[in-house]
Amino acid sequence: LSYLNREAAQPLIGQIVDAFAEAIDSGELSQGEKLPTTRELAELAGVNHLTAARAYRRLAERGLVTARVGRGTFVRAASAEAEARGSAPDRSSWQLYALPEESETYGDRILTEMFRHAGARDPIPLMVGYPDAGLFPVEQIRRISAAILESEPERALQYTDVEGVPELREQLALLGERRGGVGGADETVVTSGARQALTLAARAILRPGDVAACESPSFVGVIEALRNTGARVLPVPVDDEGLDLDALEQLLRRHEVRLLAVQPRLHNPTGVDLSPERRRRLSELARRRGLFILEDGVYGDLRFAGERLPPLRTLAPEHVIYVDSLSKSVGSGLRTGWVVATGPVLDRIVREKRNDDMTSPTLPQLIAARFLAAGEYERHLERIIPIHRERCEALIEAIESELGTIASASRPQGGAHVWVRLHDRLDEQVLYAEAVRQGVSFHPGGAAMPERPRSTSMRLSFGLLSPDEIREGVRRLARAVRTVRKTRRPAKAMPIA
Ligand SMILES: Cc1ncc(COP(=O)(O)O)c(C=O)c1O
Repeated sequence: LSYLNREAAQPLIGQIVDAFAEAIDSGELSQGEKLPTTRELAELAGVNHLTAARAYRRLAERGLVTARVGRGTFVRAASAEAEARGSAPDRSSWQLYALPEESETYGDRILTEMFRHAGARDPIPLMVGYPDAGLFPVEQIRRISAAILESEPERALQYTDVEGVPELREQLALLGERRGGVGGADETVVTSGARQALTLAARAILRPGDVAACESPSFVGVIEALRNTGARVLPVPVDDEGLDLDALEQLLRRHEVRLLAVQPRLHNPTGVDLSPERRRRLSELARRRGLFILEDGVYGDLRFAGERLPPLRTLAPEHVIYVDSLSKSVGSGLRTGWVVATGPVLDRIVREKRNDDMTSPTLPQLIAARFLAAGEYERHLERIIPIHRERCEALIEAIESELGTIASASRPQGGAHVWVRLHDRLDEQVLYAEAVRQGVSFHPGGAAMPERPRSTSMRLSFGLLSPDEIREGVRRLARAVRTVRKTRRPAKAMPIA
């Protein structure tokens, strides 16, 4: 590259390509050798990043280099066998140079892993936060769906309002009223699951460079939703009374936080509530500091212990944007969620919804509306909550007997998860690999936190599995922990995005 001639007739990009091609031909660069990143090449050659990327693309098209996702560009190692077969060059490898640089986060990787394990029982998926499909109200949904397709099939298959089917918005407002008054139908927007509601609210409020905060640990999806706006996401610790308000106040003194994401009722992953005193303090703080609060209540109705609390939004409706869904109880595949907000932020959320997917599917909304109107939702909760309690007890007992001396666990009052912290610090990824080898998966704690964790934690979920599966899963997990503790080396830093 030191021979590049800026005065020559041949464009620089061609000179770069030729220089690499010659170095590869002559063996100066050997097969499998890693080349500089496009950014490094741009700097070395004094060209812009796009030119460097184009040069690698041309070399890839000539079959001289190959790009590996997330790892870089390498001199192509054409095996004798591949050459004999005349193997076709990878025709899509040019995309790796045309696409922006890989931005896969640790959370992305864990979510991919979770979806991969969700459909199987081996390894026992203690990492998976799905509800048990065997508990869904299949008969009721079958009857309601048939009735809709009989009485209003065209409407069921047509687009609907951006904000959602009117009778569902009405039913959701009534459901909110039964919980203490979350908001009116005109403040309610139906979304494709709570996950989309989190994304829309985050996009409505945050811009690149803004500061957002969320509980640590939290739901990996909300961390991703906040980060994807380009905002910086700062952690606020939680204890057995929920979000640590002193820590939040300190954070607010140092940073201009625009939005805070919380789960004040039956928090994922600890299963605990924000205490009444802290709820009051938080709503006052939101008013005083002009702070938006993104309240996620997806587990709020899955309570088997403790006092029933209304959503936080009831305390400060102009500040709190409330998100919920039917995913954790009625059917996650219905993708029926909603968001409730007041004021200009509501208009922005509606605009984000229109820009994103225009409307959520109509048929599931009609089904949800009739399901709620018939009183089936409450009846269904009554049926499934004792089963959740039993599964949670099985998990807590198993943790106590198998891991009791080396870990501490949260005490869920509902929801679907337990947060377990090991007393010793172990390398989370080594532990995960060993757990899978032993036949169980767990949700690595680091992926549920916006910051680099200081201790080793894991989220274990009880919603999907039978008590026997849970007990066997924890036995295998304990074996994995013991194995890794025996061979422990100093814990490596976690790769955080
Ligand atoms: C706390 C929390 N919020 C939101 C979601 C997403 O819910 P939905 O399936 O309705 O998109 C989940 C799902 O795991 C969750 O745990």
